[in-house]
Amino acid sequence: MFEAAVSGARTDEIEDVEVVIRPALTAAAVDVLEADGFLLGTPANIGYMSGALKHFFDVIYYPCLEATKRRPYGLYVHGGMDTTGAVRAVESITTGLGWRAVRPPVTVTGPPGKADREACWELGALLAAEVEGLLGRPPGLYVDRSRSGGSVNERLI
Ligand SMILES: Cc1cc2nc3c(=O)[nH]c(=O)nc-3n(C[C@H](O)[C@H](O)[C@H](O)COP(=O)(O)O)c2cc1C
Repeated sequence: MFEAAVSGARTDEIEDVEVVIRPALTAAAVDVLEADGFLLGTPANIGYMSGALKHFFDVIYYPCLEATKRRPYGLYVHGGMDTTGAVRAVESITTGLGWRAVRPPVTVTGPPGKADREACWELGALLAAEVEGLLGRPPGLYVDRSRSGGSVNERLI
């Protein structure tokens, strides 16, 4: 699943996106700050994400909270029979970070088949295309409007 997702992100059709691979236990806040999008993968372990991915989020959460809002991400989860808890756990943190899913997570239980690998490939390619689109925006000011507590917040992105 990892190899399929990376292969999709590196598809020849997308030229300007560099794919950098970091194991969750070694990824640091600076890696996240420097990235324009994030491809996350984890097994389902005891109804949760891997300890390594949770450690990653613990390390990067506050240093990246303000700077990485609205950045796109994709998620794939591999489990034995039920990935629900792992997906919920990751989505609760990415929601807190304000990251934007490019599509619903790819979840696979049991040995990944051809269709599962293709879904991972598409996830990687979709994320890379999204990042390329962001990079290709014409120069100018971009305003994000979000509503909270009855007032509209505006900020430049
Ligand atoms: C300690 C442990 C806990 C697990 N908990 C879950 C679980 O909650 N849900 C699930 O679907 N699979 C669970 N599994 C099965 C793994 O997610 C499954 O083996 C998966 O294929 C691992 O992914 P990987 O081979 O890509 O690392 C667990 C496996 C282990 C060893």
